[in-house]
Amino acid sequence: MADRVTPGSAAARALYPITETTIFANHCAASPLSRRVTEAMGDWLNWWQLHGGRDDLERPFDAWRQNFATLIGAQPQEIAFTGNTSEGLLLVANGFPWQAGDAILTADGEFVANVYPWYQAELQGVEIIRLPLRENVLHLDQIETALRDHPNIRLVALSFVSFLTGQQLPLAALGALCHQYDAYLSIDAIQGAGAFPMDVGASQVDFLSAGGPKWLMGPIGAGFFYCREALLPMLRPRHHGWLSVDDPSRYLDYHRPLSETASRFEPGTSPWLSLVGLNASVKTLHEVGIDAIAAHISLLGDTMRQGLTARGYELALPDDVLRGGIVAFRHAERDATTIVQALDSHHVTTSAREGWIRFAPHFYNTVDEVERTLALL
Ligand SMILES: Cc1ncc(COP(=O)(O)O)c(C=O)c1O
Repeated sequence: MADRVTPGSAAARALYPITETTIFANHCAASPLSRRVTEAMGDWLNWWQLHGGRDDLERPFDAWRQNFATLIGAQPQEIAFTGNTSEGLLLVANGFPWQAGDAILTADGEFVANVYPWYQAELQGVEIIRLPLRENVLHLDQIETALRDHPNIRLVALSFVSFLTGQQLPLAALGALCHQYDAYLSIDAIQGAGAFPMDVGASQVDFLSAGGPKWLMGPIGAGFFYCREALLPMLRPRHHGWLSVDDPSRYLDYHRPLSETASRFEPGTSPWLSLVGLNASVKTLHEVGIDAIAAHISLLGDTMRQGLTARGYELALPDDVLRGGIVAFRHAERDATTIVQALDSHHVTTSAREGWIRFAPHFYNTVDEVERTLALL
């Protein structure tokens, strides 16, 4: 019997050929693919090459929806397939029933993907309120004060984990706060989904969007969107296409009602090949267990932070702030890009953003790899 795939184990590393050549710690950019992902996609392509589209083609969409739903504590009928994070955020920005005078609360330091969609709402007279960070950190009390001072805030739009600092927002506390002040909550989850547990039901998250290529370790081209079931009638599908309806196989009935599930947000054929790969990856993440993955990533992050502090590097976040999988750091005298390039020349992959170096390992990385990286710094 094959060895169990556990965080940092030989079995885990064997799934990722990149471990043979590289210390890869850039999952905040795009993950390398596992053997299982490329095999699943290869099998699918080979099958397609031999058979093409057939009426009896198996369509495993329900199982895939369940896969994503389990990841975030949702129901499969609350999941729509997308091509990336932005599509999900735009579904909210363009479909929410805005009224002039409404406001959206967001924060400085958000990745641009969670900025431009809200300008669509601004065009409809919606105000955008952007909270400043305090020493790189967004505090819940800032959000509470804003919600109290601006009763017109209808939506809070934030990232689960910051792409830049790695700060993780406590979703349960955030969701409770939003609902206390009658605001809806939209989460850009791409920097955390697959690495840290989420429970959209318990946390009262209303909308959630994530692309597959980062911590979900899928190929480029697929992602998912979650809409709380009770809000499906409220969020108008602006891209109403032939697959948005109930039973699209009634081809000549041109007045089908909208699907009662989140599939109403899928106008046409989904990015099938990328979804094959992404689902193979999500299955592996479930097999390892998101709690175990989170604990392992946190251990690697703590080890890195301690070593960086000992070497005189500055960390973006203080110790008492909840973190995701990104350790962001910098050096007083050496610029971030130079350090990233120096690491790269030793086959350690990281990335530089806005003067910070991001070190972002996943479940197959090891403490030994962290220590070898530190030795280069
Ligand atoms: C927080 C965040 N959201 C979204 C994205 C990417 O958006 P999309 O999946 O639409 O390309 C990134 C990519 O770096 C990100 O860091």
